[in-house]
This record gives sequence, structure tokens and C-alpha cells, in this order.
Amino acid sequence: QAFFKSIMNAEPSSPTKRHTKISVVGAGNVGMAIAQTILTQDLTDELVLVDAIPDKLRGEMLDLQHAAAFLPRTRIQASTDYSVTVGSDLCIVTAGARQIHGESRLNLLQRNVSLFKKIIPPLVRYSPDTILLIVSNPVDVLTYVAWKLSGFPSNRVIGSGTNLDSSRFRFLIADHLDVNAQDVQAFIVGEHGDSSVALWSSISVGGVPVLSFLEKQQITYEKEMLEAIHKEVTESAYEVIRLKGYTSWAIGYSVANLARSILRDQRRVHPVSVLAKGFYDIQDGEVFLSLPAQLGRGGVLGVTNVHLTQEEKHRLMDSATTILQVQNHLSI
Ligand code: NAI
Ligand code: 2OP
Repeated sequence: QAFFKSIMNAEPSSPTKRHTKISVVGAGNVGMAIAQTILTQDLTDELVLVDAIPDKLRGEMLDLQHAAAFLPRTRIQASTDYSVTVGSDLCIVTAGARQIHGESRLNLLQRNVSLFKKIIPPLVRYSPDTILLIVSNPVDVLTYVAWKLSGFPSNRVIGSGTNLDSSRFRFLIADHLDVNAQDVQAFIVGEHGDSSVALWSSISVGGVPVLSFLEKQQITYEKEMLEAIHKEVTESAYEVIRLKGYTSWAIGYSVANLARSILRDQRRVHPVSVLAKGFYDIQDGEVFLSLPAQLGRGGVLGVTNVHLTQEEKHRLMDSATTILQVQNHLSI
């Protein structure tokens, strides 16, 4: 007997919005921060967790399910078997080794390439139309690896890239100017990591370009101070890792923010890792790095043409070269 007595002649219930399914591979610090942010922000109808450790995976799934009374209704499943991911709209990959104190992101490469060979093919088999969103580090090179392993068109393979670095940047600028970080428009592009590039010329606060404002006010252009803010951004992850062992909350919000733009077709511009060939004079090699990209239901819809100074262009080229040098030693 059904729990609710049905209403005679009622239309069969039809969902008011498109049904969505997100799979998160890797139920570690990062995967779980992303999962819990996605749940609290009501971004999907189904959330799937995949990991290699069955007990931990089931424990995490149950712990989230037990919050059902406080969350938007979402079906949560977990398995070590990739068949559970079938028909995903978005697959977020966070599995893999992370840095220990003092280690760089690029050190993780070979370990995580081996894992990706086990992870990407089954994801693609079960969800041939999915969008892949890569978070594991080094994220730019691993996004390239995921693109190669998947055989997907490049618009459906995205790295979380410098969306996180840009959020750190916006926080520090907002703190310095005593304004709201959501009113600060500022991009970090290039490699997620040590060779990232801050686009000083395009920073604005509440629509006011900051550098030209400072120059008009004849306030000394404090280059050293600006460089110090960028240095703090690149050192942020190292500091958090030294203090708490890993980073998780900010990347959780950053990736949920990308998931929203993609699945809800928001067409917002985010600095994320995309196939950069052909943009901003980057012609050599197949390199993924962060550029301001418009995201929607089709994945990467385009790359915006932000004005770069000569110095910014040179730094972006150097960042591309750094990534390509690492990539050239890879055997996939
Ligand atoms: P963690 O060690 O807490 O979690 C990694 C998880 O991957 C573990 O649960 C492990 O069991 C799982 N795993 C390992 N092999 C697997 C396989 N073959 N299949 C499925 N799952 C597997 O590490 P954490 O802190 O969650 O970091 C994960 C990754 O995210 C690291 O590479 C880290 O560097 C990266 N990261 C990237 C950020 C970004 O901005 N792109 C920010 C923060 C971390
Ligand atoms: C972060 O920037 C470690 O890539 C990681 O938080």
C-alpha cells in the first residue's frame, strides 16, 4: 500500500527542472568538502561518491545521508564500482596523492597519472556525455592527461585551475582595501601554483578599475605591495598545508561554484584550466592552463579577451612553458 493515497486523475508527477547527477571521485578531504558544499547549495538531484577504500567510503556516505533532515532532498550513493556513476552530468575528480609539507604540486605528477589511468576510462565508459572537472594536482597537467585519456572534445574537460587562487587573491585585495571580496573582480591565470600570473591591469572594485583610480588620485603605484599580495596567494596553500596538513574548505566552495555555473548554465566567467592553444598568443603545444573562460551546460563556451599588459603576456607564456616542460616528460 502506498504511503500517500493518490489523487484520482492527477497528472503523473513531472520534475520541474532537469534531473542532474554529479559524481565525485576521491572521498578524501577535498572530495568531501566539495560533496558537502554541493549538498548544502542544492546543486544536484543525485550525488555519487567513489573511492578505493570501501569502509571510509561507506562511512562518509552514511554520515552525509544522516543529515538528510537538514538538507535539500538529494539521493546520495557511494561505491568502489564505477557503474554507480552511470549517466553523470558532471564528474569531479579529486582522487590522488596530495602534497606533504614543503612538497610542490608538480611532485605528485607520476603517482597521480597512474591513478588517472584507472579512473578516467571507467568514468567515460559509464557517462560518455559527461563533463570532467579535474581537481587533483598538479591540476593543469592532470587536466591534459584526462583530456587525452577520455578522448572528449576539449570543451568537456576542465581543470579547477586558478578559480581558487583568484578567490584567495580577491580575499587579500578586499582585506587590503577593506571592501567585500564579492565586489572585487580580479583574475589569476596560468598555472594553478607557483608560476601563476596576477592580472593587475584588470582588477576592479565595484566596477571601478583599481590601478587607473590609484594613478588618477596620484597615489603612488605600490608595485611592491601588489607583488607581495600575489606572493601571499602563491604561498597560501603551502601555509595551510603546514598548519593543518591539507586544504579543503576553499576548494570545496570553489568547485561547487564551478558546478553551479556548468549545470545551471550560468554562463559566468571563471579562471579555469582549459586547452589554451590559440588564445592569448599561446600557439605551441597542447597545454591546459587557466584563462578567463565562460562556463555553461556545454562546458567551456568560450575564452574572454581580457586586456593583458606586455609583462602579463610574458608571464603567461612563462607559465605555459613551465607546464609544457613537465608535460613533455610524461608517458600516458
Ligand atoms: P586525501 O588523501 O584526503 O584524499 C584522496 C582520496 O583519493 C583518498 O580518499 C583515497 O582513498 C582516494 N583514492 C586514491 N586512489 C584512488 C583510486 N584509484 N580511485 C578512487 N579513489 C582513490 O587527499 P585530499 O586532501 O583530498 O587531496 C586530493 C587531491 O586534491 C590532491 O591531489 C591535492 O593536491 C588536490 N587538491 C587540489 C586543489 C586544487 O585547487 N586543484 C586544492 C586542494 C587539493
Ligand atoms: C591548493 O592550492 C594544494 O592545490 C592546493 O589549496
